[in-house]
Amino acid sequence: MLDVIQKYASVVNSEVNNWFKAGTIDDFPENSGACVKYKDKQIAVFNFKQMDKWYACQNLCPHKMEMVLSLGLIGDKNGIPKVACPLHKKNFSLEDGSGLTDESLRIAVYPVKIEDGNVYIGFLD
Ligand code: FES
Repeated sequence: MLDVIQKYASVVNSEVNNWFKAGTIDDFPENSGACVKYKDKQIAVFNFKQMDKWYACQNLCPHKMEMVLSLGLIGDKNGIPKVACPLHKKNFSLEDGSGLTDESLRIAVYPVKIEDGNVYIGFLD
């Protein structure tokens, strides 16, 4: 189980050495999530239209190690964009991956950029 979580580590924009093309903007629902695969990782991608921003994070919820975060509801908590796990409603910041309802849990987040109608997720391989 630990192996799975160790696959995921946050990447900041300045570290990216591989912009992975995840699809076109039309492939992703507005104000909702979708899951893409990058190598052996499942990545949740959110087109957060209300905030006019895109986010990517691990699809794995660290609470019970379920691949579900792309199915979570997005919103904001005191201005912080967040995703709520659909199973037990733990909330995670989409900006830095911190646990907003349980500080002991956090998720990996990845930069997203949009170019020419395509969605790219930044990785450090
Ligand atoms: S599995 Fe996500 S909150 Fe429990």
